[in-house]
Order: sequence, then C-alpha cells, then structure tokens
Amino acid sequence: MSTVPESQPTRATSDQASIDATATAPQPSGPFRVGDRAQLTGPKGKMHTVTLMPGKELHTHNGVLAHDSLIGLPDGSVVTNSAGHEYLALRPLLNDFVMSMPRGAAIVYPKDAAQIVAQADIFPGAVVVEAGVGSGALSLWLLRAVGPAGRLLSFERRDEFAEVAEANVSTFFGRVPETWSVTVGDLVDQLPLAAPAGTVDRVVLDMLAPWECIEVVADALKPGGVVLCYVATATQLSRVAEFIRSTGLFTEPIASETMVRGWHVQGLAVRPDHRMVAHTGFLITARRLAPGAVLPDVKRRKAKAPTYGDEDVEAWTPGAVGDRTISDKNLRKRVREATQAASWATGDGGETGQQRGVGDEPSQIGDSGADAGPGTVDVID
Ligand SMILES: C[S@@+](CC[C@H](N)C(=O)[O-])C[C@H]1O[C@@H](n2cnc3c(N)ncnc32)[C@H](O)[C@@H]1O
Repeated sequence: MSTVPESQPTRATSDQASIDATATAPQPSGPFRVGDRAQLTGPKGKMHTVTLMPGKELHTHNGVLAHDSLIGLPDGSVVTNSAGHEYLALRPLLNDFVMSMPRGAAIVYPKDAAQIVAQADIFPGAVVVEAGVGSGALSLWLLRAVGPAGRLLSFERRDEFAEVAEANVSTFFGRVPETWSVTVGDLVDQLPLAAPAGTVDRVVLDMLAPWECIEVVADALKPGGVVLCYVATATQLSRVAEFIRSTGLFTEPIASETMVRGWHVQGLAVRPDHRMVAHTGFLITARRLAPGAVLPDVKRRKAKAPTYGDEDVEAWTPGAVGDRTISDKNLRKRVREATQAASWATGDGGETGQQRGVGDEPSQIGDSGADAGPGTVDVID
C-alpha cells in the first residue's frame, strides 16, 4: 500500500527521471516523460493536449502551467497552475488522439475501427493491406493490432492524404513504425507490385468504390484470408456485396453496422444520452476460397442480383454518397498542422519548442477554445 497521500502525486525515482529526460517517443504508460503527450482537463472541463518539453509552458487565460511540473508524475495526476487552477493530466488514449488529429479525409471512428479489428480478425504478426489511408486513423488501429511482428501495407491515391496520414502516425508513435509502408497510387495498380499472389492475410478497404479492387484483393489474399469493406451508404453496400458474390472466389458476404449509444449514469438519472453518432458506415466481410474451390450451394432462396453498369461507377462520387469534400486550401492547412505536430513529436526538424514564443504552445491538438495555440486543430466533419 502506498504511504503517499493520493492528493500529492510523486515524481519517479532519480534513476527513472534520468531515463525520462532522454526519452522522446511517446510512451503508452508509466510516469510522464519528455516527449509524451498529456491531455489536460482544466477549469470548466476545457481540454488541452501538450507534448511535454522541459522548460515549456502551457499559457491560457487561466494562468500558466509548466510542463516540468508534470514530467515524472504518474499518469492521472492533478497539478495546479500559476493561478491556482487544477488540471487533471492523462495520456490521451488512441480514441482521443484519432478524434482530434488533423484530417484530410473523413476518418474511421473508433467504434468501427474496433469492429474492423474484430471482424477482419486482425492478429499480431498478420500481413494486412489497407486502402485508402485517408487521414491514417484506421492505420493506427491496424498497426497496433498487427504488433511488432506484423506488417501493414497501406495504399493511398492522393499524395496529400498520405502525407497527413504519415504525419499523424508519426505523431502518435513518435516515429514511423518499421512495420508500416505507405504506397501512393491506386490499389488496383500497386497491390500486385507490392504483394505477391497469395501472401496477404487480411485486406481492409475504406474507399468509395471497393468493388473496383476486389479482383486484385482476391489475388493477393491467402486462401481463408479475410476482405473487409467499410462503406458509407446502402447503395455501395449492395454493389460491393453483389460484386463479391459474382466473382465466385469468396464465401457469402456478411454485412453489419455498429451503433454505440452512450449512457448518462448519475444518481437516479440513469438513461441513454440524448445524442449519439447514429450512422457512420457499414462493414461487409468475406473470406477467400481456396484456388478452384466452389462454394457449396447455400440453402436459401437466391435474391436476384441488381445489375450495375459503368455509368453507376461515375455516380459514386464523394458528394453523391454524402461525404464532405475538403478544399485544396483547407487540405494544405491540415497537411501543415499534421506535419508540424509530427516534427514536434519526433524531434525531427521543424521549429523546436525552445525557439518558439511561450504563448505558441506547439502541440495543443484538439482544443477548439479561445486558448488554442497554433497546433490546434478543429474537426472538419
Ligand atoms: C474515407 S478515406 C479513408 C479514411 C481512413 N480509413 C482513415 O480512417 O483515416 C478514403 C480514401 O481512399 C482513397 N482511395 C479511394 N480509392 C482508392 C484506390 N483505389 N486506391 C487507393 N486509395 C484510394 C481516397 O483518396 C481517400 O483518401
């Protein structure tokens, strides 16, 4: 049992502190170290996320909080700023990070990412293909799930989106993981060059027209491997399901959606939250049959497949399926924000904390309030 009162957080031992002083990559647990991100909840629940740097300070209109007052303290500590305001300091979870990181394209929400990892059966050591990369939200979950022995091969058509994704992933891990590669180009052209036939365990497609990629995916997958598509609309779901069936190369596709409803639990007021994210997308999975295998007849009446023509492909535009598009100017801003955050997180070039003015807090990710520094981002969808 600890002899230290809970209200007085203690620093790590001097040995631990000297290790901490040289650390740069963010750590998922343990006492706060230099380079870790800390999510600070201050007066009125206002949140700031900072990357801890010796000598740096968080300036808000509620006072000044020195990063040094946090370095060495346990995760979950409460610290007081120059004006006597208390801040709860916690490492942001991956959940928190993906919801506040800079976005080029719309992200996969954590509720869907969790289901993707489960339904696509992403396992430690797996070779996984992902397209498109977009903002890199799903890449982060997949990289965690494949672990140090796995590999994630990500493909993205748009250079700027790949740049945002790479920056977000480096910010989170403090470096680009060795287990990750990002190829800029269309999956249809690039996958056969990147992965020999029958060598990929799992494929996850998050794009407007996944049916265009199903044939190259079938070639790349090992027998028994899983393809999972994440689509925003029922019309895309129908088209990809029919395409998967028509190839005769996969098991019967299985589709689902995930709704997560938060609850308010306080005293006798125990009820669902008034608001929820009601719709994000649908998941559809199928498994690759062995070469030459023919799926035994399923014992149910076959639905008549709708017919889709080439002109339908033209109809599936981001606007038509309700995706918000991002202007070139806005996208350039996201790229700047993401690469700046990554250079602070990795210590790789860019302005250093010491070179910046004290009010220029470099790493306030996800703070939408008046105290926001230049590293602040606002969510675009
Ligand atoms: C919705 S975003 C992906 C978001 C990403 N999963 C995330 O969580 O941040 C869809 C991306 O797919 C890319 N894309 C669409 N078709 C593609 C293809 N055939 N090959 C590679 N990338 C593609 C688009 O450029 C876009 O960036």
